Parts: sequence; C-alpha cells; structure tokens
Amino acid sequence: MFVNSIVIIGFFLYNYIGDKMEYKFITSSEDETIELAQNFESEKFPNMVICLNGELGSGKTIFTKGFAHAMEITDTITSPTFTIIKEYEGDMSLYHMDVYRLDEDSSDIGIEEYFDKGGVCIIEWADNIKHILPKNRLDIKIKVIDENKRSIIINAYGKEYEELCEAVL
Ligand SMILES: Nc1ncnc2c1ncn2[C@@H]1O[C@H](COP(=O)(O)OP(=O)(O)O)[C@@H](O)[C@H]1O
Ligand SMILES: [Mg+2]
Repeated sequence: MFVNSIVIIGFFLYNYIGDKMEYKFITSSEDETIELAQNFESEKFPNMVICLNGELGSGKTIFTKGFAHAMEITDTITSPTFTIIKEYEGDMSLYHMDVYRLDEDSSDIGIEEYFDKGGVCIIEWADNIKHILPKNRLDIKIKVIDENKRSIIINAYGKEYEELCEAVL
C-alpha cells in the first residue's frame, strides 16, 4: 500500500462509472511520476498492458523509465519512436512500444503478439492502435498543467486492473 505516497499531492479523486474506475491526481515533478510508476511496478503481473497517452513531453517515457528501473532493468530507456518496440529483460520482460507513427490503417506488424508473451507491455500513444488493444488494460492519460505539474488520469478496465489500482493508489 502506498496511500501515503507523496505522489498524491494536489488532489485525488476517485469515480466509479459503470464498470470503469477512474482515478485522477497531480504529480508535481518528474520524480513523483517515477514514484507512481514504481508503485504500479510493485504489483505487476504477466501480460499486464499499460497504455500511455498524452502530448509530446507530457511524461510517458519518464513513467516507463520509472517502471523499468523498478524491474531492475539497467539499460537506458529512450522513446522507441523509430523502432516501435523495444524489449528489455528485467525480473520480467518489458515490451516498450511507441506507436506514434501507427494508425488504424497500419499494416499488421504483430503488436498483438506481445500482449500475451508473459511480460509487461507499456505503450506510448496507445490511442493510435485502440482497435487492437486488449479489453482489459490500464489507460493512463497525462496532461501538462505547467512546467513540472502533470494531471494523471487512470482508467482501469477489468477486475485485475481494478484490483491493481486499489492496491497501488
Ligand atoms: N510531473 C512530471 N512528470 C513527468 N515528467 C515531467 C514532470 N514535470 C516535468 N517533466 C519533464 O517532462 C518531460 C517528459 O518527457 P517524456 O517523458 O520524454 O515525454 P513523452 O514521452 O510523453 O513525450 C521530461 O523532460 C521531464 O523532466
Ligand atoms: Mg516518449
């Protein structure tokens, strides 16, 4: 439990709308976003899918870095914009994707294969490939408020992700 996490600075809201849970809060620095990612990592499970959306420079890669370091991945994590998928080996496999250049019409490049390979998938610009995302997943939308503040909106789809949020947030 990380209820006392400094990440929850600013405000914290929790809504229950139908079968969807939404959490909102604000991080006030890069380190707080990293801490949030580390908290999620502590409850990771095989085939976990985390979808990140938000404008360029909002913090999608920073979140991924925080998650990867907590997985004991020592490689440098960069935005894999030109490679689409980068694989890292930590205490589980991490598949870091950046699908900025893809859309609904992109030919099948086998992204779906990664969703059930037993590792964790973190997908930047995931909304671009909404049509192939698994139904059960964590959606994280990051909005820039100012230089160091980010609004983080988290939607959990599916029981395992709802329980994850309850454990972490
Ligand atoms: N609260 C915050 N959370 C995440 N990043 C932040 C925050 N405040 C400032 N930043 C800065 O915003 C930038 C985010 O970059 P990056 O993660 O590469 O964005 P994206 O992958 O979304 O394009 C970094 O330079 C980081 O230092
Ligand atoms: Mg990025």
